[in-house]
Amino acid sequence: MNLILLGAPGAGKGTQATKISDRYGLVHISTGDIFRANIKNGTKIGMLAKSYIDKGELVPDEVTCDIVKDRLTWDDCKKGYLLDGFPRNLFQAAELDKFAKIDAVVNINIDFKLLMDRLCGRRVCKDCGESYHVSTLNGATTCSRCGGELYQRRDDNPETVKSRLEVYNEQTAPLINYYTMQGNILNFTGSEAPAEVLFAQVAESLDKLAR
Ligand code: AP5
Ligand code: MG
Repeated sequence: MNLILLGAPGAGKGTQATKISDRYGLVHISTGDIFRANIKNGTKIGMLAKSYIDKGELVPDEVTCDIVKDRLTWDDCKKGYLLDGFPRNLFQAAELDKFAKIDAVVNINIDFKLLMDRLCGRRVCKDCGESYHVSTLNGATTCSRCGGELYQRRDDNPETVKSRLEVYNEQTAPLINYYTMQGNILNFTGSEAPAEVLFAQVAESLDKLAR
């Protein structure tokens, strides 16, 4: 099964991606994670990506599409994959159609009012990538799963979040219509439901597809 996860910044794509890929044995491919790993390793792509990510803008399409196109040729993708954060505009979606066959698009709709707090309060584990919110950490600075150090993403600040949300509205939201026209979109609401409850709803739909 090959899936796309669609949703605004902070909608819960990464949170659901871990659960979905575990349940269906899919490779989780997050373009944001790929860029952050490149930034950490000081690669040329990392240096380029950083200048866009810090402003909340999209990394150029050519670079992003080449990375995904190459990643999908790896052997592990034969068992199925989950794209988290790609495609992010109509150009990327049209490119993806040329080199991939997607079975379903999982779209998480969310009330925008929740996102600034969710993102600015997010802390992420350096080692396992688990996300937390400061309001539930009681001052803890390490991950309760693996003990890793928690950090705040550089793009999780009010100014950059504002720009990420604008970019989502202008460039990514039109993909909802694009995939609705293709007839393979599954819509969910991520505002009220805790992550586990949302996942149960997503799994109910995907179980039918996986059969
Ligand atoms: P990326 O890393 O993809 O970030 P994003 O889309 O902004 O989304 P986030 O990762 O911030 O949020 P999420 O939806 O994964 O939510 P999460 O599960 O963490 O991209 C970063 C940047 O890279 C982009 O701005 C761009 O510059 C570049 N980039 C990436 N892909 C690109 C592409 N294709 N083309 C060009 N550029 C690209 O959850 C958020 C928080 O909410 C967490 O604290 C979590 O614990 C909490 N939470 C999750 N679910 C729930 C729930 N149900 N209830 C309550 N809290 C919840
Ligand atoms: Mg994410």
